[in-house]
Amino acid sequence: MKPDDWMRSENEAEVASPALVLHSERIDENLRRMVARVGDPVRLRPHIKTHKLPQLVVRQLALGITKFKCATIAEAELAASAGAADVLLALQPVGPNVGRFLHLMRAFPATQFSTLTDSPDALATLSRAAAPAGVVVEVLLDLDVGQARTGIAPGPEAAALYQAMRTLPGIRPGGLHAYDGQLHQRDAAERRAACERAYAAVEKLRTELLAAGLAVPRVVVGGTPTFPFHARRGDVECSPGTSVLWDAGYGTTMPDLDFLPAATLLTRVVSRPAHNRLCLDLGHKAVASEMPHPRVIFPELPQARAVAHNEEHLVLETEDAAHFPVGAVVHGIPWHICPTVALHSHVHVATAGRASAIWPVVGRARFITI
Ligand SMILES: Cc1ncc(COP(=O)(O)O)c(C=O)c1O
Repeated sequence: MKPDDWMRSENEAEVASPALVLHSERIDENLRRMVARVGDPVRLRPHIKTHKLPQLVVRQLALGITKFKCATIAEAELAASAGAADVLLALQPVGPNVGRFLHLMRAFPATQFSTLTDSPDALATLSRAAAPAGVVVEVLLDLDVGQARTGIAPGPEAAALYQAMRTLPGIRPGGLHAYDGQLHQRDAAERRAACERAYAAVEKLRTELLAAGLAVPRVVVGGTPTFPFHARRGDVECSPGTSVLWDAGYGTTMPDLDFLPAATLLTRVVSRPAHNRLCLDLGHKAVASEMPHPRVIFPELPQARAVAHNEEHLVLETEDAAHFPVGAVVHGIPWHICPTVALHSHVHVATAGRASAIWPVVGRARFITI
């Protein structure tokens, strides 16, 4: 078997391109590795933004993983419908999403929901909506540990906002959340040192809050690049997402992480416009393209260079073009899997080398029922 044979499905002639193919056994292996890293599945809170699939929530439940993180109301709904016991909406609800979030809580009483805040105003709005509805929302304080995307810096202002949760009707303090997604150092020792520096402020705040008599039921930290470091702490929940399907981006830039690429793109040559050019049906409507090329790694075409990318076309320049006639299948690993999944209404699922199921990507919808 050639190193990349796992990418091929024996019946791929039946799979219309462009397609996203999930490789079942490799996903299971990634999930096992995630659990092994933390030692106990109760310490995992994987983000479901990467796959957006109820079937993969169910697989994680079977491994004893009961807590999930999500970014949208639709993802939260799909997790709850799939039987997740505990769902954290990691985006502060504002506008109509406040009412949708409360609706979700009422619609799935068997699921424990929580969300985040970094704003006294947003928290007050949530309290004003929750209290008359007779709902108590568990809210985690979103801390900014250097990404400067969302969150409040750990410090007195953060402590005061956490204190306020104790007094506001309809709100219960749920702990701390700190996403360190800015830490992308290739060198694991450097990444670890930066992770420890960023995390120290979270731990300091936790200690202060506890000393002030406040409950801090949980601390939810990190994504995939810092997962190995947070996994060792023992008293935090880890929320990697990309590790479930893996991608060429992290695979290339995080050589210390040992997850397996478990999602591939199946594309075909639709034209050979020049002796050294291949045009694939893999436009930017089929693969995430928010970054410069390479947006896909093609193990069969290691020297190929992307020279044009349109909605439905990807043009590669390669001296190997003659070996790929029009209609030939080419396999790729997307650079960034999460937004790639969101571009596909369905995924093909390969088990034992055969693309044997098609799953709708339920969580790519902005609305499911709520
Ligand atoms: C808040 C939050 N938590 C966790 C994750 C998962 O991180 P990763 O994709 O590195 O696994 C993300 C990813 O964007 C995120 O935004």
